[in-house]
Amino acid sequence: MGLYDGVDLRLNVPHSARMYDYFLGGFTNFAADREAAGHALAVAPWVRTGARANRSFMHRSTRTLAEAGFDQFLDIGTGIPTSPNLHEVAQRIRPSARVVYADNDPIVLSHAQALLTGTPEGRTAYVEADATDPAGLLAAPGLRETLDLARPVALSLNALLHFVPDELGAYRVVEHLKSALAPGSALVMTHVTPEFAPEDIADLVRIYSSAGTAVQARSRPEIARFLDGWTLLAPGLVPIPRWRPVPGETVVSPSEATGYAAVAVKP
Ligand SMILES: C[S@@+](CC[C@H](N)C(=O)[O-])C[C@H]1O[C@@H](n2cnc3c(N)ncnc32)[C@H](O)[C@@H]1O
Repeated sequence: MGLYDGVDLRLNVPHSARMYDYFLGGFTNFAADREAAGHALAVAPWVRTGARANRSFMHRSTRTLAEAGFDQFLDIGTGIPTSPNLHEVAQRIRPSARVVYADNDPIVLSHAQALLTGTPEGRTAYVEADATDPAGLLAAPGLRETLDLARPVALSLNALLHFVPDELGAYRVVEHLKSALAPGSALVMTHVTPEFAPEDIADLVRIYSSAGTAVQARSRPEIARFLDGWTLLAPGLVPIPRWRPVPGETVVSPSEATGYAAVAVKP
């Protein structure tokens, strides 16, 4: 069996996960993805650094939570594997960490093997699921066999929710996930905002829409609403590079145009 057997990857149509992979310098992208990504870079050259800044936040927030004692992670909207992946960051600190990845895209599924290479003491699983069906996602056998939802879980929704417009029930989805998690759980997220570079973002939303992907950039108060009722860890909901930067390591976007990041804990 070849890697892509039986999966319609629609390689002639640009795809957000492969465009993101291209911005990060990966190799899982094709001509149509590179063309659409090229249009995005032409209107907003900072997108490449923004993608790296987003990834760098995932490293810092995962390390912070693993150091605080978290040993269960659920990462929805995982994307094409990019080393280090979340389980590598978490298990470096906590080798027994259990990590479940979920994405709705067949290209991510076809590369999931790279996400299943954890430590012998820990465990990783991949679930093909759509965030807009949180009940189905949470009931997936791979998730249930890997995570104990009666104990705290670090849920990450990084660069995911701007692909879930209000019409698809973004707030309903997040409230469902929040209510299913035990007290002491954490919600980690990054989200694109139009606030810092409204014209660039409007152009990007148009480019993604014409490539078939709906994007909804949200304001800071709209993003804060996802975290309602949970306690923000310092420094709060801030531009992505400003969340606990590590000098010499944190990737800083030239503008802060990418979006906001936060980590919040369930009381
Ligand atoms: C920009 S990537 C983010 C990757 C990674 N979380 C990161 O921050 O580096 C967004 C990912 O979300 C996935 N995605 C978009 N809508 C989704 C949905 N409704 N359910 C599950 N995954 C979704 C896409 O397939 C893509 O892999």
